[in-house]
Amino acid sequence: MPNTLTLALSKGRIFKETLPLLKAAGIEPIDDPDTSRKLILETNQADVRLIIVRASDVPTYVEYGGADIGVAGKDVLLEHPNAELYEPVDLEIAQCKLMTAGKVGEAVKSGRLKVATKFIQSTRRFYAEQGQQVDIIKLYGSMELAPLVGLADRIVDVVDTGNTLRANGLEPLEHIADISSRLVVNKASMKMKHARIQQFIERIRAAVAEKNND
Ligand code: ATP
Ligand code: PRP
Repeated sequence: MPNTLTLALSKGRIFKETLPLLKAAGIEPIDDPDTSRKLILETNQADVRLIIVRASDVPTYVEYGGADIGVAGKDVLLEHPNAELYEPVDLEIAQCKLMTAGKVGEAVKSGRLKVATKFIQSTRRFYAEQGQQVDIIKLYGSMELAPLVGLADRIVDVVDTGNTLRANGLEPLEHIADISSRLVVNKASMKMKHARIQQFIERIRAAVAEKNND
């Protein structure tokens, strides 16, 4: 739509951590996605709306113009290496690390490793760079379970406190990437709504800088 801005966000962590940045930029949603079943949320600004999508779908919505702007974890963006998107701001929220992990103290196995993950692209790239042959098993969640039931030797997942790994008898092994969430922008929107989007980007940049000064 010509004069509106549509922002794609996922529920939970990204929504909660983006909210203060949007507020600093003058944007406040009218509904709360945790209590509302609505997937399109109006805001205090008549020309700005939020759409609520799965975290892993944000790049798709933004690339194909379902949203002008989105907030996506770098882990998710690394799974879309060819997506035609601008990535103008590191929001420095939802910070964690993409890591390999395995059972505590387990001896290194010779030969091909079985690696369970939802991060296929990052996993393939990481082990290729190590020159290590692996069989990658695609999962959609609960990756920590895979080594415990013999499905895989390793997992690749995001780690923050390490509590989830510890609670399941696993330990972090190799660091693959530092992760935080990024603002992503549709390329056509950037051209067609340049002034509006540039103003939004500058306000969000200022909000991130302000937060760092606190
Ligand atoms: P989907 O619903 O698409 O499967 P998800 O369940 O991984 O996605 P969230 O758990 O909301 O979605 O995570 C959103 C983003 O937050 C991730 O892409 C990652 O960048 C970051 N993240 C995930 N777990 C943590 C964590 N424990 N601490 C900090 N950041 C995290
Ligand atoms: C994420 C991720 C890990 C966990 C890591 O899960 O999938 O399992 O966080 O964080 P930690 O190192 O602090 O334990 P989340 O809590 O988002 O639940 P999810 O399975 O719904 O994604």
